[in-house]
Amino acid sequence: AAHRPLFGRHVLVTAGPTHEPIDPVRYIANRSSGKQGFAIAAAAARAGARVTLVAGPVHLATPPGVDRVDVETAREMAEAVRQALPADVAIMVAAVADWRTSTVAEEKMKKRGSAPPALLLTENPDILATVATSTQRPSLLIGFAAETQDVIRHAQEKRLRKQADWIVANDVSGDVMGGDANAVHIVRADDVVSLPEMPKEDVARILVERIADALAL
Ligand code: C5P
Repeated sequence: AAHRPLFGRHVLVTAGPTHEPIDPVRYIANRSSGKQGFAIAAAAARAGARVTLVAGPVHLATPPGVDRVDVETAREMAEAVRQALPADVAIMVAAVADWRTSTVAEEKMKKRGSAPPALLLTENPDILATVATSTQRPSLLIGFAAETQDVIRHAQEKRLRKQADWIVANDVSGDVMGGDANAVHIVRADDVVSLPEMPKEDVARILVERIADALAL
């Protein structure tokens, strides 16, 4: 049991970017690699949890013992998360696109020498905030926050706004996105645990240890 502190628990992780189609060949995306979320799913599985990993489009192997659901868009991710609940813990690591195009062109858009098209955008559902207010809210709900300034203050605000229990905040002003290392602050109601820069696997292991400690209380 000391070895597998999450045995008997269901852990839900979202990871990667989402792709929001513009037409059959184009999409809106972001620089998320999925590495941090996949590392967390792997660490949770090693800790004995049943793990559901809802993954956006990434080029990463499924960690051993993890149930993976592949999605493309934010709305598909929201639906996959809904179907994966209930869970004891949800860790929303995905960099979900904030906006999608309001319509998707059925055919590839053409240049035709005229003015470039204007994309009309519409807001995507906030998966974290939706889970926070759902009747199936996990007892421990963790969000991530990528910030470039005032990292901890913005994370604390985000924690309250989205009704998450913890926000794991990272400073992405460097090359964190797509990189192999991360420096995070685990922002909770009563304290902040700041970790030095380390490999994303180590961030994952420490976060999973903290999760196991919190569930054991
Ligand atoms: O508001 P912001 O995008 O910075 O919030 C980041 C956190 O919210 C992350 O945990 C991310 O996975 C989650 N999120 C989400 N659905 C969205 C946007 C963000 O679950 N549409």
